[in-house]
Amino acid sequence: MAQARKPVQVTVSINGPYLVVGDIPLATQTVVADDDGGSEDWKEGPPIDHPASYALCRCGMSQSKPFCDGSHKKVGFDGTETASRQAYLDQAQTLEGPTHALTDAQNLCAFARFCDPNGQVWSQVSASEDPQVRATFLRQVNQCPSGRLVAWDRSTGEPVEYPLPVSIGLVEDPVEACSGPLWLRGGIPVVSSDGFVYEVRNRVTLCRCGQSKNKPFCDGTHAAVHFRDD
Ligand code: FES
Repeated sequence: MAQARKPVQVTVSINGPYLVVGDIPLATQTVVADDDGGSEDWKEGPPIDHPASYALCRCGMSQSKPFCDGSHKKVGFDGTETASRQAYLDQAQTLEGPTHALTDAQNLCAFARFCDPNGQVWSQVSASEDPQVRATFLRQVNQCPSGRLVAWDRSTGEPVEYPLPVSIGLVEDPVEACSGPLWLRGGIPVVSSDGFVYEVRNRVTLCRCGQSKNKPFCDGTHAAVHFRDD
């Protein structure tokens, strides 16, 4: 008999770590660049050992990253959640192409830059009747870790969302020589410190450098502050 999957959840604690339950697999996810330095693919690292429930650093100051070591208390971390609680589609702008559409919620950008190669996704969508452009467009949009970008099939009205395994990625960005957010994959519910359940999505990035202005989500600041998970 197939085993029922354990309920998974990430809870944002007040000025403290992310509390992870449900034995969610954890591994590094590294941005692989093409010859021009453009983001081309993701490379998953080996699984990282963890107990079934664990606490991930949110302030960026732990000496035991990615896990919390209590440093948030010593540094007086202010983890106030400032992100919009609107659903993604209420935050996003839509760009219609011939066969597909693109929705874009800019404030969720995690600066992974998969949107940029091959003439950028915003141009690709307007040429989506070309099967080759369309395939590139769908791949690049689905590689966007934060879910800022979503592709839609105009004939069905449905999102084109590649399935991802339930897992947490620790983003590494060698081109920018920095570490990035926690990449929550496969629809992991995120609960705020006051009990609000953010919209459950296939791709979500949570800040782990402590510096985002859109907490708990990443806003790309980790690159500007050269955050390192050493
Ligand atoms: S990890 Fe991206 S802004 Fe903090």
